[in-house]
Amino acid sequence: MDNQEQLQRSKEIVSDLIEAIREVLRQHNVTYEEYRAGFRHLIELAEAHETPLVLDCFFNQTICDIEMQTRQGSRSNVEGPYFLEGAPLVTDTIKVRGNTEPLLIRCQVRDIHGQPIPDVLTDIWFADSNGDYSGYSEDFPIEYFRGKVLTDQDGKYAVLGSIPKEYPMTSNEHGPTGSIIELLGGQGMRPKHIHFKYNKEAYAPLTTQAYFSGSEYLDADPVEAVFDDLTHELKDENGLAVLELDVVLDPAE
Ligand code: BEZ
Ligand code: FE
Repeated sequence: MDNQEQLQRSKEIVSDLIEAIREVLRQHNVTYEEYRAGFRHLIELAEAHETPLVLDCFFNQTICDIEMQTRQGSRSNVEGPYFLEGAPLVTDTIKVRGNTEPLLIRCQVRDIHGQPIPDVLTDIWFADSNGDYSGYSEDFPIEYFRGKVLTDQDGKYAVLGSIPKEYPMTSNEHGPTGSIIELLGGQGMRPKHIHFKYNKEAYAPLTTQAYFSGSEYLDADPVEAVFDDLTHELKDENGLAVLELDVVLDPAE
C-alpha cells in the first residue's frame, strides 16, 4: 500500500469510527453530563498512563482475530503492553530468579506445507513468581524472564525458563482500566501465560501466547484471548514440566 492509499484508508477508518461512536451516543440518548463523565475518564486513563493497557485489553485480540481471517498458520494472540526490544540472545536457558518452578519449552516451527524452518528468531517473555515483567525497574533488568532463541536446522528450539504466575491486568484494581472491567462484570486477573514473537524473513511475523490447561482464570480472561488451541497440557519428564509447541508460520504477504 503506498502513502496515498494508506492515507485514504486512515480517513475511511477514522470517519467510520467517529460515526460508530455517534451512533452509540444517539442510541442511548447520552446526556451532556454522561458525555463529560466519559471525557473525564479518558483523561484519567491518560494521566494514569493506562492508555496502552486499556487499548490492549479491549482491542488487541480483535486485531489478532482479523489477522486470522487471512492466515492458515498458528493463531495470533495479544502482544500486550509488556514486550521490550533488546532481550538477550540465549541458547538453552532464560535467566530466572526468585521462587520459580522450572519449565522446559520445546518448540517445532514449520511452514504451512509442513517443512521445518531454521533460523527463526523467537522472543519469549513471561512474568516472574510475583506476576511482574522484567525491564520496568532498575533492580529487575531485562536479562531476566526474557530471551531470544533461534531454531536449529530442524526448525526446533528448546529452552529452559519457568512457569509464570497469573497477574492482575492493572496494579490499580479500581483505577481507570480496572473500573471499566468491574463495570462490565469482569475480573482483572490474566491466567498464566507465556508470550512469543516469531520472526523470520519471508514469513509473516507471529505474535502469540501459550496458556496452561487447568490453570485459574482461563474462563475469565479480561483480555478475552484464551483459545483451546493455545492452551497446553504440561508434560512431566522425570519431574521437569515440559511445554511442547508446534508452530506454523504463514508466508509473508
Ligand atoms: C499481557 O498478556 O501481558 C497483556 C495483554 C493485554 C493487556 C494487558 C496485558
Ligand atoms: Fe502477559
